[in-house]
Amino acid sequence: MSVGLDDVVAAETALSHVDGEAGRLIIRGFDLEELAGRQSFEAVSSLLWRDLAAAGDAMAVRHALGAARVAAFPIAERLLPMSAGLSPVEALRLMLSGLSDASPIPGHVLVTAAMPVFVAAITRHRDGLAPVAPDAALGQAADFLRMLRGQAASPAEIHALDTYLVTVIDHGLNASTFTARVVASTRAGMVSSVIAGLCALKGPLHGGAPGPVLDMLDEIATPERIRPWLEQALDNGERLMGFGHRVYRVRDPRADVLKHVAATLRAGANRIQFADEVERAALAILAERKRSRPLQTNVEFYTALVLEALALPRETFTPVFAVGRVAGWAAHVLEQEAANRLIRPQSRYVGPLPKRAA
Ligand code: ACO
Repeated sequence: MSVGLDDVVAAETALSHVDGEAGRLIIRGFDLEELAGRQSFEAVSSLLWRDLAAAGDAMAVRHALGAARVAAFPIAERLLPMSAGLSPVEALRLMLSGLSDASPIPGHVLVTAAMPVFVAAITRHRDGLAPVAPDAALGQAADFLRMLRGQAASPAEIHALDTYLVTVIDHGLNASTFTARVVASTRAGMVSSVIAGLCALKGPLHGGAPGPVLDMLDEIATPERIRPWLEQALDNGERLMGFGHRVYRVRDPRADVLKHVAATLRAGANRIQFADEVERAALAILAERKRSRPLQTNVEFYTALVLEALALPRETFTPVFAVGRVAGWAAHVLEQEAANRLIRPQSRYVGPLPKRAA
């Protein structure tokens, strides 16, 4: 038995491969570094969806997503009042439930298009602002930032967000993708599968880490406090957010892509320098203390800095992760449905046995 399923291969996929020893992420035959910053979110989505759905090229995907964003907007308007008291990721869960598998829009397009519309509306609502309607002519990254702010973002910001969305678009059989595939295997449909994926992403051991990364940087606050703060956190048995990974034994390749992106955003220059010092100290301390397990920086560490430099509130970081990852979840659902077998593992019973009747 493998608690945590560490060494279990539970699916065959042609979508992405995480090489944990080499620190390499391959998406449909391309290294991440060949795609991130060079191809748009729409282009990489069409790469993931081709052969699985009538996806078309990057431009066809861009048009389809634009039209579907417009179709999703009334759902955001209708459900916003019901999101009072919910955290942003909980509000997103609520809004996704407003989508239907009976929609005439193909499921993978609908969920991918709806995600930025919902996240932008939720983010504005928490500041008391009305939602901004989508512009079908824009790409996902540009329109997401415009719907968030009510005005166009700069080309550098749009490029940074587009690079981020591609960087997190797919990542093998991570917890949320596996969850989405399990639900898809019951033939529950695209919307339910994606909601299930989001629920798995919510946890701090998966997609809930980047907000706490910033909390950690804020608490450390000054260079002199870096080492004592980190030592104390580990003495208390805490985990350092943004470090460690189930599969990578070397540095997460996504961390370097995002570190580079963060450096292109002027707003975050001092913060990045400080984060760099924290990262170096954390890696040194983890290497001293956790000799049995190589612990390296993961994607969430620099995600936090990129999203902060884009002026996104930290409570929305997990929903923004979903804006990128949803295209991968949708591809995995399509792949699961194309060659489906119900995913139904066994458990080993360790409870009491019934007492035999005398
Ligand atoms: N800080 C301190 N110690 C850690 C950390 C960390 N971030 N990560 C793992 N360890 C330690 C554990 O305490 C354990 O030590 P021990 O053997 O002395 O008890 C050892 O490393 C192995 O830990 P596991 O829990 O077996 O490792 P697992 O593969 O389950 O953990 C995980 C992976 C959940 C990502 C973990 O590294 C972690 O909690 N990191 C912090 C949260 C985080 O950054 N999450 C985002 C992950 S990226 C993503 O999902 C998008």
